[in-house]
Amino acid sequence: MLIAGEPGVGKTRLAEDVVARSGMSYAWGRATEAEGSPPYWPFRQVVRAIGGASTVWEPPAGGADSAQERFRLFEAVTELLIAAAEPDALVVVFDDLQWADPASVQLLVHLARAVARSKLLVIGTFRHTETTGRAALRGALSTLASEPAVTRLTLAGLTEPEVAAQLAGVTGWPVPASVAAAICRRTSGNPFFVGELGRLLAGSADGDELPAGVRDAVRGRLGRLSPLCRAMLAEAAVLGAELDPEAIAAATERSLAEVLAALDEAIAAGIVEGGRFAHDLIREAARLDVGTVERLALHQRMAGYLRGLGDADVRVGQIAEHLLESLPAGGRGRGGGVDRTGRRAGHGPTRLGASQCALWPRAGGRPAGPVAAGRVVAGQGASAGPGSRGGGRSGLGGGRGRDRPYRWAR
Ligand SMILES: Nc1ncnc2c1ncn2[C@@H]1O[C@H](COP(=O)(O)OP(=O)(O)OP(=O)(O)O)[C@@H](O)[C@H]1O
Ligand SMILES: [Mg+2]
Repeated sequence: MLIAGEPGVGKTRLAEDVVARSGMSYAWGRATEAEGSPPYWPFRQVVRAIGGASTVWEPPAGGADSAQERFRLFEAVTELLIAAAEPDALVVVFDDLQWADPASVQLLVHLARAVARSKLLVIGTFRHTETTGRAALRGALSTLASEPAVTRLTLAGLTEPEVAAQLAGVTGWPVPASVAAAICRRTSGNPFFVGELGRLLAGSADGDELPAGVRDAVRGRLGRLSPLCRAMLAEAAVLGAELDPEAIAAATERSLAEVLAALDEAIAAGIVEGGRFAHDLIREAARLDVGTVERLALHQRMAGYLRGLGDADVRVGQIAEHLLESLPAGGRGRGGGVDRTGRRAGHGPTRLGASQCALWPRAGGRPAGPVAAGRVVAGQGASAGPGSRGGGRSGLGGGRGRDRPYRWAR
């Protein structure tokens, strides 16, 4: 059984649940990202756990053709595991296969072909968002896809009721359905992110912006991308949830080709989906990496780009947002033709929707107790920043304060 999914979606947890519910003996091997681990590291852990002799890994005394030696080793390990599943069944879990060495992945394929005639259940988990550049893993996955004995599951996020149940488990109190729904939207039901926001809700996480765990997890994901892709995503995250390549190219002063290449990479890594950030939380964390000066410049250039479009007159609201965001904190009110009422000379009222306006009062102040839920869910507005449909801005991690006067003026 192969369990695929993005980081934090619950692959390990599902494997643990299968092991626990089966009541069978089990052995666990985990591939590691750390350099220096020996070949077959996940298998070495499993063989050790079942009490297999470590001599199985030793090359034969006389030496042998490496292909023959490898086949002998694959057979020896396979027989060892199948024998360990007698007379009672055995579950073997290989976790985090995205980091497994090529030899381990090939051994897994060899093993998978033999399990049908055994009492062995083999579970492999991997982040399908991190298979780019891992030729051995990709090859193994396509081979395994045609093995009748192999089932592949790709995990999606939790549903709203499931998010509510997880939140109740973390906070210890039933979370209002509207809060669970907002957190579900904001996290796309990713249980790792739900757990982190749940702890924030329960008041047990430090700080009042993005939980450190979320920031670190997102930075870990972004850290695996090329420097260009990382930088482009951080800049794009400042500009809005939706990713318009031409607008990003204009605002970031990059070529369209560079932006498209970076977006392709981000799509392959599961960070961008359907022309927007896969999670609001990814966007929120990514934009924290852009300094103030660059952020202001990005908004300035974005406003300039939008003003130059043929339909600029219907984009007055977006342009006003970017101009306001381009002002240093001391410059409020000198908004390049935008006043605090959101009107611009020669134009009617900006097209900020009622839903946007409704978000602002909640974004101010610093409520305590249950009201703090407003803070945790405030990011529902962050799913769409300036220049994107839906409107609203995050109350979290946006850099400048939550209490800017123009918000209240709306
Ligand atoms: N169905 C669930 N209900 C409640 N909590 C869950 C559920 N699934 C996962 N979790 C919790 O979410 C967190 C992330 O889950 P898990 O470690 O299984 O993710 P993963 O997919 O293995 O991530 P990674 O790719 O980083 O290894 C854990 O704290 C786990 O306990
Ligand atoms: Mg895991």
